[in-house]
Amino acid sequence: MALRSARWYAGDDRNTYIHRAWMRRGVPSDGFDRPQIAIANTASDLVPCNRHLSDVAAAVRDGVHAAGGTPLELPVLGLGETNVRPTAMLWRNLAAMEMEEMFRANPVDGLVLLGGCDKTIPALLMAASSVDLPAVVVPGGPMLTGTFRGVPLGCGTDVWRLSEEVRAGTLSAEQFTKSESAMIRSRGHCNTMGTASTMALVAEALGTVVPGVAGTPAADSRLLEAAHGTGRLVVDLVTCDRRPSTFLTKASFSNAIVALAAIGGSTNAVVHLLAIAGRLGIDLSLDDFDRIGSGVPVLVDLQPAGRFLMEDFHRAGGLLAVLREVRDLLDPTALTVTGKPLVDYLDDAPIWDAEVIRPRHDPLVDHGGIAVLRGNLAPSGAVIKPAAASPELMRHRGRAVVFDSIEDFHARIDDPDLDVTADSVLVLRGCGPKGYPGMPEVSNMPLPKKLLEAGVRDMVRICDGRMSGTAYGTVVLHVAPEAAAGGPLALVRTGDVISLDVEARRIDVEVDDAELAARTPNEATVAGFANPARGWERLYVDHVGQADTGADLDFLVGASGSEVSRESH
Ligand code: FES
Ligand code: MG
Repeated sequence: MALRSARWYAGDDRNTYIHRAWMRRGVPSDGFDRPQIAIANTASDLVPCNRHLSDVAAAVRDGVHAAGGTPLELPVLGLGETNVRPTAMLWRNLAAMEMEEMFRANPVDGLVLLGGCDKTIPALLMAASSVDLPAVVVPGGPMLTGTFRGVPLGCGTDVWRLSEEVRAGTLSAEQFTKSESAMIRSRGHCNTMGTASTMALVAEALGTVVPGVAGTPAADSRLLEAAHGTGRLVVDLVTCDRRPSTFLTKASFSNAIVALAAIGGSTNAVVHLLAIAGRLGIDLSLDDFDRIGSGVPVLVDLQPAGRFLMEDFHRAGGLLAVLREVRDLLDPTALTVTGKPLVDYLDDAPIWDAEVIRPRHDPLVDHGGIAVLRGNLAPSGAVIKPAAASPELMRHRGRAVVFDSIEDFHARIDDPDLDVTADSVLVLRGCGPKGYPGMPEVSNMPLPKKLLEAGVRDMVRICDGRMSGTAYGTVVLHVAPEAAAGGPLALVRTGDVISLDVEARRIDVEVDDAELAARTPNEATVAGFANPARGWERLYVDHVGQADTGADLDFLVGASGSEVSRESH
């Protein structure tokens, strides 16, 4: 089979001369006849969770060489979850677009995708799906477990917990600050079952990671061995032309949903999987998550739903040990990037620590997964993660206390005169893809100080934004349509009664249809919606879709393939 890169390099005319000559710098003459493998690297100093990926890239490079390919490291847009404002999610689609365009524009035949921090693996997979070149993900891996005053700290999860303790007066501000350096013990991404860990494992369940690799800690030598092996593998993939479109099917997504539920993974995976499926033209809907995943037991006892951290998870057997327990729920037809079905990897995948990975007959939560809610507050759907919620709040009626923006929320939530009780339902709007913009992780609103001091630890909260995968609480997320896109969430008023019934899959405001239809959003609500003047934000707000379809840009859904464009000179 002729290599795609031969369209640049094969021949002896002026143009092929130009393409080769500037690339020579150490590449031997026969280096241009080999598979050209781009190592897409999301490392940067401003993406601390991915900083070590340049070391991983070096191992991939060795593997590509060993298999007779030419490795080409390509820095691509990385997103650091904790610093990027207003939210890294605003640029997931930009990263995916940049990667897709550069993969297509350059003389490359195959891709190794290096990601870690939350948005990076989703963006890489969206890009690889749209350009449809042979591609394998190497997840950068979680941090090792750090401890503070003898207690392990879970990245993210314990930040929420410790900060609530400061607000409740049970931890000093000084001790709180001191815990910072224990929180981040080593290279790697968050060590809880947050979005980064979730997406690495879900990418493996999809079949885009060599089975058994996801979850390997960033500091573990086995990650470099896996990176080397992946470098070798991708050269083979080019030879046998195994592109994403040849093995990613609805069955792959079905397995990813089962895995997402069994690991008790982040709700953010719902938005990312819908977006990836959209790139592949696979008909995946929000309801598939409920239908396939909601009955699956949570087997993994990791923070935020449970106790342990990713280092424990890897030691206990990792994803394959989890999947072996739910093998009957997996679609055996789904193939992995190696060409073998995912289920073929489960025979020799024991659980080594049944506290961390529970056997099927003794789950952490009977029914995990994501529940998809509908009602007059969320006609296109909303999600809740029952495993992170309080059982006694799963069916609840309460008075709405409404906030028009996160700034409005922060200004009023701790006001001692705020009319709020433990039974109230906190509503925050203007946090969807268009409204913020970018659908930030603000939905797990901190509780009012006076209620915290009274011992309240959870309340029903509703928002059109997302929640950090490391957070917990009875939070209804991803309300669609969002308030800024004409959703009824914009019409709720403080004092309206809201009813949540997770078992019935309902989220409603108890206002009759005629009255709701007669309402219009008030001025403060509309003022809370983003209205960017220029640049990416303007393009994003004008073209972004809603959470229930993956919040991709309308013109990025689908694929353009790897067709080589016209000559550059
Ligand atoms: Fe990067 Fe959590 S902040 S993975
Ligand atoms: Mg996050």
